[in-house]
Amino acid sequence: MKKTWLVTGGAGFIGGNFIYHILSAHDDVDVVCVDSLTYAGNLSTLAGAMNDPRFAFVRADIRDCDAMRGVFAEHKPTAVVNFAAESHVDRSIKDPGIFISTNVTGTQVLMDCCLEFGTERFHQVSTDEVYGDLPLDRPDLFFTEDTPLDPSSPYSASKAAADLLALAYRRTYGLNVTISRCSNNYGPYQFPEKLIPLTIANALEGRRLPVYGKGENVRDWLYVEDHCRAIDAVIDRGKPGEVYNIGGHNEMRNIDIVKKICNLLGKPHDLIEFVADRKGHDLRYAIDPTKAKRELGWEPKTKFVDGIKSTVEWYLSHESWWREIISGEYKEYYRKMYGGKS
Ligand code: NAD
Ligand code: DAU
Repeated sequence: MKKTWLVTGGAGFIGGNFIYHILSAHDDVDVVCVDSLTYAGNLSTLAGAMNDPRFAFVRADIRDCDAMRGVFAEHKPTAVVNFAAESHVDRSIKDPGIFISTNVTGTQVLMDCCLEFGTERFHQVSTDEVYGDLPLDRPDLFFTEDTPLDPSSPYSASKAAADLLALAYRRTYGLNVTISRCSNNYGPYQFPEKLIPLTIANALEGRRLPVYGKGENVRDWLYVEDHCRAIDAVIDRGKPGEVYNIGGHNEMRNIDIVKKICNLLGKPHDLIEFVADRKGHDLRYAIDPTKAKRELGWEPKTKFVDGIKSTVEWYLSHESWWREIISGEYKEYYRKMYGGKS
């Protein structure tokens, strides 16, 4: 039977990579992308899919019930994969309201449509940030699916709320939901407000490289294609109502990531500038992906040393993609966020 997957937020970083993954990995799946094209959404990210007869793009807001009902009525998706979100922690600290609205209400609207139109599966793309953080001096501790939710930022609190809502729709209405909680992604098409692409773009422009606090915070980095394969595996083999943690045991301190990028680009470390810390800054994220390996047979394939090299090469060979982004509205955000310092 023909499958149609509704992918929300596909003009963003991970959703865009996921659409390319699905179109090349599954010739029996049609993809409909819904994206409202916020500052973080770029149609140029999807340029390579636009002429594919199995792909359709609809510009719409996931919070708009009438628009979503129209999309479900027309395309009759067999599965929904919800990437659409406000995703940047720093923006959530400055302006939390839109995070609650998009990340929580948007998820509710999509799940209501799934119930109304009999969609077989709703997959919520969540984050390891819902678990809060781990101490720096306990490398033996990891997030499992049973770790209590303890989000620190308005962003992660909104993602945790959406997860709880999805599980409630499972219990109350029997909706076939799954949730994946992934660690930090990196790779092509990431908006240059996030650490890795921001560092690459700034280094190429000879600008200061802002590092929060002392740069000792730790993130568990996963190449985006590995995340896409994991979501694909959850949709294929995941059990309804289950949560799957996705991560690659690749923990690194921020300062080491920034130095590594400088080295790859042949730029001096004295571009690095330690700036004021993020409010409520999570210390360490570290995923235990045992369940995903055991139940889905999923494992990361890309080693960081290779993934970061190809990511830097991608930004070098796609300058027009990121230069266009940093020339617009982003300039004003950057000025407000980092002032004249960086
Ligand atoms: P992103 O910010 O790059 O992209 C988000 C996309 O959603 C954009 O295209 C934007 O236009 C769209 N969007 C925003 N609000 C919308 C709305 N109301 N209606 C329709 N579209 C809307 O985000 P990303 O980094 O690709 O993250 C995608 C998802 O993965 C998010 O749910 C995020 O919480 C989750 N996640 C991200 C990471 C990461 O490292 N980036 C890790 C784990 C989980
Ligand atoms: O863990 C998954 C999460 O990873 C996702 O849910 C989020 O959507 C995604 O944005 C990401 O959140 P982080 O806050 O970890 O990512 P970010 O790239 O913003 O920051 C990574 C680390 O680098 C963090 O400790 C803050 C630090 N940082 C970030 C920026 C933008 C800096 O030191 N300087 C910077 O300029």
